[in-house]
Amino acid sequence: ASRGLIDRFGRAATDLRVSLTDFCNLRCTYCMPASGLTFLRTEQLLTVEEIVRLVRIGVEQFGVDQVRFTGGEPLTRADLPEIIAGVAALEPRPNISLTTNAIGLEVRAAGLRDAGLDRINVSLDTVVSETFERMSRRPLLHRVLEGIDGARAAGLDPIKVNAVLLPGVNDHELPDLLAWCLARDLQLRVIEQMPLDADHIWDRTSMITAAQMREALADRYMLSPAAVDRAGAPAELFDVADRTTGEHLGRVGTIASVTEPFCEDCRRTRLTAEGRVRTCLFAHEETDLRGALRAGASDDEIADIWRAAHWGKAAGHGMNRAGFHQPERPMSAIGG
Ligand code: GTP
Ligand code: 5AD
Ligand code: SF4
Repeated sequence: ASRGLIDRFGRAATDLRVSLTDFCNLRCTYCMPASGLTFLRTEQLLTVEEIVRLVRIGVEQFGVDQVRFTGGEPLTRADLPEIIAGVAALEPRPNISLTTNAIGLEVRAAGLRDAGLDRINVSLDTVVSETFERMSRRPLLHRVLEGIDGARAAGLDPIKVNAVLLPGVNDHELPDLLAWCLARDLQLRVIEQMPLDADHIWDRTSMITAAQMREALADRYMLSPAAVDRAGAPAELFDVADRTTGEHLGRVGTIASVTEPFCEDCRRTRLTAEGRVRTCLFAHEETDLRGALRAGASDDEIADIWRAAHWGKAAGHGMNRAGFHQPERPMSAIGG
């Protein structure tokens, strides 16, 4: 019986984000320390069977209809096709998406699509090699671009591009990045940096706001709010037209987690790579499910632990209130 995954504020979570690993082959400054982290060992990670079972519980008991795999970098798990196939076989079948840096996707996209992957969001902050290396601390822009081409060739559609803007690093490239995405029919979403960096150097006063992003685009493009139901999604979408010809060129999104929070309409629940429920990116507590799984708990028992945890979900991230403090773990370990 589906009783929903409800919190004290009356929100129901139907959008499940599953981190598959805390490992990544990049070291983006806003997400991971230069030295990496002490990564989880294989036996600490959920297995294919455990992941599929937890997602099944979400689908059957909570009505989960969107499943997104994240990391770290989910492509670094060799068993990703089996995980996707297992989830695609569930009834009713949820929509299955992946948030990835796309490295290696050219060899894996067709297999993932055949397993049941519906769509991908690619993290790409710049198409300038020097900027890419500065932001990700790795000289691998060409690998990401090959991956995106491979995903396209495999027929994955839509492909969204996520770009975090950092002041003085890539913010001045925004109009060119949008032009690059529009030319390839990629939906760019520009993201306000959140305080989830390992070095705790995020600074509210210098972060690029969504309003500034729209202003930076206004020289070259006309933006008008797109007529779409946002339905709890982080991105606010705009139709993009050429400023001189008026020609419609596509869409762009802004993700204003800091200045225009969407927590009130949040439909998310998360699982970390080691099998803990995390009710929010900014939660300070996690609730273990792996122990119960490995101790032979029933579906109902696991669902009850999950429900009890979710009941404690905070109203919002609280970033704009006094006394806010950033989670200990950086984004890569929480799951993007
Ligand atoms: P779609 O289903 O394609 O809309 O996916 P999405 O935008 O929800 O997922 P994606 O993984 O592409 O995340 C895009 C950006 O949204 C991330 O870079 C984060 O900045 C932001 N984001 C993701 N999850 C959360 C969340 O739980 N809270 C907040 N405030 N921001 C989030
Ligand atoms: N603030 C905002 N977005 C972030 N991401 C990673 N770290 C941060 C941060 N500190 C983004 C990545 C990826 C998505 C899962 O989260 O760019 O696209
Ligand atoms: Fe890795 Fe993604 Fe974090 Fe970059 S944003 S370090 S690609 S997990």
